[in-house]
Amino acid sequence: MSELNKIALKIISNGKGILAADESTGTMTKRLESVKVHSNENNRLLFRQTLFSSQAMKDCIGGVILYDETIRQKTSDGRTIPELINLSGSFTGIKVDTGAKVLAGSIQEKVTEGLDGLRERLKDYYKLGARFTKWRGVYLISDKYPSDISISANAHALARYAALVQEAGMVPIIEPEVLMEGNHSAKDCFNRTSEVIKKCYEELELNKVDLSGTILKPNMILPGNNSDEKISEEDVAELTLECLNKSVPSSVPGIAFLSGGQTEIEATANLNKINTKNNTNFIMTYSYGRALQQSALKFWSKNLNNIIGTQEIFNHRAKMCTLAAQGKWSESLEKTS
Ligand code: G3H
Repeated sequence: MSELNKIALKIISNGKGILAADESTGTMTKRLESVKVHSNENNRLLFRQTLFSSQAMKDCIGGVILYDETIRQKTSDGRTIPELINLSGSFTGIKVDTGAKVLAGSIQEKVTEGLDGLRERLKDYYKLGARFTKWRGVYLISDKYPSDISISANAHALARYAALVQEAGMVPIIEPEVLMEGNHSAKDCFNRTSEVIKKCYEELELNKVDLSGTILKPNMILPGNNSDEKISEEDVAELTLECLNKSVPSSVPGIAFLSGGQTEIEATANLNKINTKNNTNFIMTYSYGRALQQSALKFWSKNLNNIIGTQEIFNHRAKMCTLAAQGKWSESLEKTS
């Protein structure tokens, strides 16, 4: 078993999942302003530090993905953020792409950038304590998208990123996110997601990436957020499992879903159903941003000093997700803990 495979497994085993706290300053500002909190360095640190020192970090969270600003910050007692995260037995991760930019030759689509100088940045992040990384490619669905050029450009970038990350001794999270925006059907999402993921593995293999030392972070199979189609959790689970079973090589140890705009309960219920029906050898867990933080952020915004109260909300959400990652969640548990 390689060192990278061991790290990947430690992050996602036993119901543990990933806290995606890697919102860029722009995105975090939007999140904070939506609850009427001023976005400055101190407030961004305070909210994140509150989550990172919660009990859930020990019980539920195997890894935290940080943004560049956060990995360099220190807590009020002088610890670095990676030291605080490691204290609970969790791994520090870092988002290393520099964002999705308009793809030349394709009007609305984007390609994710960040390969220039990546080898040097990775050395720096390793020294700062990171042991895993994230790179997110985004894909639109419409009658003409995702285009072949978007599928191949993003897959190529993801694979070159992953090879550099493994060279630097860290586990790459491969995140090809087929966006929920649009009025497409679940079947369209299934077809496009399958195509996107297959292309990523073609490129990863070409770039000699050790798949056993990676984690896939995909979207679940859902209809677009403007579609009239309603599908059951059962259908979401079946389509998602079929898509991943057909597209992901068996050497990949695990899959950690993004929440992608689902509510906290939807993301939990769908993950739970996926695990009750999981007929694959993959570990299926979460790598949620909004679906782990939304309620905690709302509560915290009313009193930035209510650390304990905010942590209780976060502990509950993380516990529900960890139960879902083991297929042990039910809606009634939402009220009891
Ligand atoms: O890249 C996306 C984030 O890491 C996950 O965020 O769960 O809010 O979609 P989300």
